[in-house]
Amino acid sequence: MRIDILTIFPPFFDSPLREGIIHRARERGLLDLRVHDLRAWATDRHRVTDDAPYGGGAGMVMKPEPLSAALEQLRTEHPGARTVLLSPQGRVWNQGLVREYGALPGLILVCGRYEGVDERVIATFIDEEVSIGDYVLTGGETAALVVVETVAREVPGVVGQPESVRQDSFFDGLLDHPHYTRPAEFRGRSVPEALLSGDHAAIARWRRREALRQTLRKRPDLLEKAALTPEDRALLERIKAGDADET
Ligand code: ADE
Repeated sequence: MRIDILTIFPPFFDSPLREGIIHRARERGLLDLRVHDLRAWATDRHRVTDDAPYGGGAGMVMKPEPLSAALEQLRTEHPGARTVLLSPQGRVWNQGLVREYGALPGLILVCGRYEGVDERVIATFIDEEVSIGDYVLTGGETAALVVVETVAREVPGVVGQPESVRQDSFFDGLLDHPHYTRPAEFRGRSVPEALLSGDHAAIARWRRREALRQTLRKRPDLLEKAALTPEDRALLERIKAGDADET
């Protein structure tokens, strides 16, 4: 998958895109990440990319000319890509959107800065605005990183075992089950017996039940939209009734 990032701060991406899973995915040719400096498309001597807002007021606005020139070029180079502006006004990012984006041939991520982007650029080039949550960042760069990392995990082969993605939080709308490693007893707390049993079916049942319990405890709102089987619903009722202990 190819992802182009358009920013006035390319160095922001240096370290995060050169570490861990993303780095390995790039090395293996699974991810083609390209960070572009918007200033390269500014034609004046000082490479200006912002200007004062019409109507007055605080803050600056991203000028249309460099941004449109950049997007014209990137969209021509990569016609299948979705052009996305990171902004607090966008669709709120979640695992459902991650999955949708993971199936696309590519993305062009535009990192908004200043007070905003000239509306005509949005109308002409932006397919969709994305927000990573209801709060305001100083720019879209942090949000673009979130999009890259989450979408990269959807690209086949990026995350080692498909099994581990299937068990992640949010895969089927639930939180993940708790995890344990050695020692079997730590500061007076034991690892649940089912996990020590070696009985794979019992372990799978325990994990499902505890995923339901964690979701009920920590994010009960997720249960309304989760993909639950009749067995899950019955288990939830038992958990609520205090009739399913955690061992
Ligand atoms: N830019 C500023 N705030 C943002 C947010 N919450 N999501 C995406 N981009 C942003």
